[in-house]
Amino acid sequence: MINLAVIGIGNWGKNWLRSVGESKKARLYACCDSDKNRLILPSKKYPKTTFTHDVKDIIKNEKINGIIIATSAPTHFKIAKEAIKSGKHVLIEKPFVLKSAHAKELIAIAKTNKRVLMVGHLLRYHPGIIKLKSIIENGKLGNIYYISSQRVNLGKIRKDENALWSFAPHDISTILYLMNKRPFGVNAIGSAYIQRKIEDVVFLNLHFRNRKMAHVHMSWLDPHKIRQTVVVGSKKMAVFDDMEPTDKLKIYDKGVSYNGRFLSYQEAIRLREGKVSAPSIKMEEPLKRECNHFIDCGTKRKIPNTDGKEGLEVVRVLEGAQKSLKQKGAFVNLD
Ligand SMILES: NC(=O)c1ccc[n+]([C@@H]2O[C@H](COP(=O)([O-])OP(=O)(O)OC[C@H]3O[C@@H](n4cnc5c(N)ncnc54)[C@H](O)[C@@H]3O)[C@@H](O)[C@H]2O)c1
Repeated sequence: MINLAVIGIGNWGKNWLRSVGESKKARLYACCDSDKNRLILPSKKYPKTTFTHDVKDIIKNEKINGIIIATSAPTHFKIAKEAIKSGKHVLIEKPFVLKSAHAKELIAIAKTNKRVLMVGHLLRYHPGIIKLKSIIENGKLGNIYYISSQRVNLGKIRKDENALWSFAPHDISTILYLMNKRPFGVNAIGSAYIQRKIEDVVFLNLHFRNRKMAHVHMSWLDPHKIRQTVVVGSKKMAVFDDMEPTDKLKIYDKGVSYNGRFLSYQEAIRLREGKVSAPSIKMEEPLKRECNHFIDCGTKRKIPNTDGKEGLEVVRVLEGAQKSLKQKGAFVNLD
């Protein structure tokens, strides 16, 4: 049994309390939030857990083996650094950190201290995304041409980070996983309508070798809630729609074949409008799977699927995209 603490019990941290609280392999040993009001309700729900408003109480408590950091993004680096140095395994919510230099520093400290460093890229633990990856690896979609992703809704409007840093970590992590490649460059445009210099809407392009590309549209200023990833391959196409209650992944036997230049237009280009199928997926809550993976890695000293290195790759893309945003969409080389 491993003793875990959750730091940051806001909108999302509450889900972590539930996940750790329900785990049979971990004890919800302590919780911390600098806002004392946020401690009142959970302390009634979890009477055996210690509650504090001071992070130092968690850091210096030797009985705590691992920490989940679900505080606001600018605080992640400092809390994680102190936690790892004091011998704790750490899971940091997205966005991992705000600078790749910080990501590198945490990776090095975790290595020296032999601690687990994991990043909360939730979709990597989603059974639908894992299934999509296996379908791509089995070659069923053919050669992947491009991926297009949408993460839009109304709110939550953040003040510490723009829509890029708030939403895109999920999509970038998924795209890198599905493409199995690093982009050599990015460009992004966006606009701040509500708060000064905090973009509410961002359109991001990732450029890969061999004409592959990906696009992410993120916004907290949109009438629809959309969580969708479309993968277009040379043989088939796939749509992962996390808003669907069931059949979240669909495979479209659709495509276009080109037969050569010397035929008439109709003969040269053939559209294939085949069947749509929904592969069977054993659903399990992604956060529960992520939580179990962290516990497993902490107990058995395994390297997480979303370790610090994976987190660094995502931060590199975010940094490049932020630079491009400032330069009104200029191409930023990541090589
Ligand atoms: N994985 C996901 O799908 C997902 C979804 C939503 C949010 N998140 C991430 O989770 C984190 C928290 O988001 P949220 O929506 O819960 O934000 P929130 O503002 O609702 O909650 C953050 C909490 O952290 C507390 N806090 C801030 N600094 C602290 C410190 N130094 N010590 C102790 N407590 C501190 C605040 O008082 C607040 O209660 C963010 O990094 C966010 O991006 C992840």
